[in-house]
Amino acid sequence: MLEKERTDDTYTVYYHLRAPHGLINDPNGLIYYRNQYHVFFQWNPEGTTHENKTWGHAVSDDLINWDFLEPALEPTDWFDKNGCYSGSAFEKDGKLYLFYTGNVRNADGDRESYQCLAVSEDGVRFEKKGPLFEHPKMYTAHLRDPKIWKEGETYWMVLGAQREDLKGTALVYRSTDILNWTFEGEIMDALPDFGYMWECPDVLKLENKDIFVFSPQGLEPEGVLYQNIFQTGYMLGHFQEGVFLPDNDEFIEMDRGFEFYAPQSFTDNQNRTIVFGWMGTMPPEEEAAVPTIKDGWIHHLSLPREIKLISNKLVQQPVEEVKMLRLKSSEILEYISQIDKIRFNTPEQEIECVWTEEPASFAWTLRDEVAVSYEAAENKLTVERTNWLTSKRETRSVYLDEPLTSLRLFLEDSAMELYVNAGREVFSLRYFNEQRTDFWEWQNDDWKEYVSQLTVHELKKAILFA
Ligand code: FRU
Repeated sequence: MLEKERTDDTYTVYYHLRAPHGLINDPNGLIYYRNQYHVFFQWNPEGTTHENKTWGHAVSDDLINWDFLEPALEPTDWFDKNGCYSGSAFEKDGKLYLFYTGNVRNADGDRESYQCLAVSEDGVRFEKKGPLFEHPKMYTAHLRDPKIWKEGETYWMVLGAQREDLKGTALVYRSTDILNWTFEGEIMDALPDFGYMWECPDVLKLENKDIFVFSPQGLEPEGVLYQNIFQTGYMLGHFQEGVFLPDNDEFIEMDRGFEFYAPQSFTDNQNRTIVFGWMGTMPPEEEAAVPTIKDGWIHHLSLPREIKLISNKLVQQPVEEVKMLRLKSSEILEYISQIDKIRFNTPEQEIECVWTEEPASFAWTLRDEVAVSYEAAENKLTVERTNWLTSKRETRSVYLDEPLTSLRLFLEDSAMELYVNAGREVFSLRYFNEQRTDFWEWQNDDWKEYVSQLTVHELKKAILFA
């Protein structure tokens, strides 16, 4: 077992999955295998830059308490020497198969990508089998992030790609034995000009629909949409014989906040579909300025979210187990008319607020830093924070397609997730505020009128590196 190192307390997150040190990015290889949850993740254990990517490895019985194992994959072979990039896991005949991208810089400094396999008998030690196939010629070397699933007797793989015309796409491969793969073509004709690269594609089934989730790079902002450096979203449709037929051309962002990227889904032993995302994608200059770097770590994953399709909308809620984090719960509805702010004992808090009728407007401020506000006239919900590089305030917003009825907010010293209307919209973000006062305040009392439940939970510090 990996030694758990303690880093400085500053901005530490205690219940979002992170690494003991170094840089973490995409969740990889998510699987429930041999009675445990396995989360692998892109991890540079040697520093806080995007180099030396290994597959970090954490296991859990309950998605809340994690043990950190030795890295499952390290960039030690000719086909992955510059990084064991993202990919997925699949169990077959009791063995755990990991599919990942070997990233290579060749002698000319050019990129090469190999889709590789590693197999384990115990879920702890992995034997690399090397590259699985050669790529078709019509694509650049930006080919990565294999995601595997099975339908009937067929294994499918979807792979992020870039065409020679420098447009993003995803490729589909098929196999009958999980070892030999044939190229089927591009996943769909829709969105032929939608960014320059599609990372971390994923195809999942919910309620007889197929959902194609991907993370396109290179979209231009459009009103409140596509405001981050890279986006993550989904399309609804049907996946048939290697082709995704979308219901329409709509690409819906999965998260409306600042940091949520490269999510991956898996189905657990209770038949729940769960995703983790990476709460760290940001422009390089912002990343270099993240204050946790001085303590030797950067970034973390999102909470595990159970996803469902309700009225053709992807709805995300933290898995039920997240309630295990609650240490102390205070029902404050009866006091709310008398108080004008609430003081927290620690930054790790959950707030649940339910309204019987939607509030006309409100403006909350959390920890002197994150503002959450709503204007019913426009159905517009906005989250605002200070950019730690420019010191400017910046916002992300969504126009709700129904009245606001509930908010569930998860707070840590430098992270927040906000679930709106039982997960019909979600905002995820990081924030770094030197003041770090533990107050929740509001600008006026309007929002109190229709509140029917108001609970504040103090949350546990679940992930400690001793
Ligand atoms: C997404 C990504 C993947 C790649 C990995 C490298 O964040 O760029 O496409 O496999 O990160 O760490």
